[in-house]
Amino acid sequence: MTEPIMEIKDLKKYFLVNKSNGKQVFVKAVDGVNLTINQGEVMGLVGESGSGKSTLAYAVMGMYKPSGGRILFKDRDISVSSAKRSLGLKKDLQIVFQDPGSSLNPSQNIKQILELPLKVHGLAQNGDLDQKIIDLLQTVELSPNYMYKSPATMGGGERQMVSIARALATDPSFVILDEPTSALDVSIQAKIINMLLKLQQVKRLTYLFITHDLSLMRNIATRVAIMYLGKVCEMADTVQFFKNPLHPYTRMLLSSIPVVSEEEEALKPQKVVSTGEIPSPVDVPPGCSFHLRCPDKTELCAQEDPVMVEAASGHFVRCHACAKM
Ligand SMILES: Nc1ncnc2c1ncn2[C@@H]1O[C@H](COP(=O)(O)OP(=O)(O)OP(=O)(O)O)[C@@H](O)[C@H]1O
Ligand code: SF4
Ligand SMILES: [Mg+2]
Repeated sequence: MTEPIMEIKDLKKYFLVNKSNGKQVFVKAVDGVNLTINQGEVMGLVGESGSGKSTLAYAVMGMYKPSGGRILFKDRDISVSSAKRSLGLKKDLQIVFQDPGSSLNPSQNIKQILELPLKVHGLAQNGDLDQKIIDLLQTVELSPNYMYKSPATMGGGERQMVSIARALATDPSFVILDEPTSALDVSIQAKIINMLLKLQQVKRLTYLFITHDLSLMRNIATRVAIMYLGKVCEMADTVQFFKNPLHPYTRMLLSSIPVVSEEEEALKPQKVVSTGEIPSPVDVPPGCSFHLRCPDKTELCAQEDPVMVEAASGHFVRCHACAKM
């Protein structure tokens, strides 16, 4: 039985970017997202650059106060900024950022970086601090002699391992991975992904795995959600998602993934040709926000924003055409 650990309800985060002639202009970075994440799953959140993935993550972490909607974690409303969150909640909810270079303090060594969360949350005393740090380093397959290194002397992959160790220091149950490998060399990406998956199993973690790489999700995620201009446009169990993609945008993304075998080529959706560029999030078109690029659009699409419907069991889609399937 899958139990929800997090329920994101109609979440909105708007940024005021301009005020001209007394008129306020907002970027609707996240605009009415509903997402349920189940205990122990790897939820893949996929979207192009600027689709609102990180903004959603930062709202979940309390780094942004939502403009609207609610976030429930373990049945508690956590839709408040970090300053108003309990220490227990902060301990339970962690994030690994995309760029380990800028997320680790360059003036500290690894020991100082890892001891901070342990001290803040009272998880180690002076006597056992070093051993706890050695244990954390071992968790991410780094040797104890990394303790006195500085992030600047380490490779990108090693720095990201330290970021993962820092996130796991507080023994969280829910971890957001915001493009954890996209800033790394291809050679190290698979190692980090495999380590994250192993840790997820061993520590019974729940992941919200953010990426722009849809093909990566096929072997990693239990469910996949696609974000486009601040909204989720399709969400399904991973097997169902890749077998029967419904939304024209999803089919466009899938049809452009390179494959290595004829069998995989046969399973890919036919090439979907979209027109136009992704619109600016300050000037989202009326109706369906994808209609300017959609090969399947009808008159209705320019007038009415589709609502999310359950097209098949557990398979949700926001599209006037798909809803009738
Ligand atoms: N603090 C901010 N102030 C104003 N606009 C912002 C702010 N943060 C994000 N945005 C805008 O909100 C939109 C969504 O940004 P976000 O960083 O969430 O996208 P993303 O999906 O994470 O993209 P990427 O894949 O490039 O990381 C973008 O148009 C971005 O410019
Ligand atoms: S609602 Fe219309 S424009 Fe939007 S994805 Fe569906 S068919 Fe395309
Ligand atoms: Mg981002």
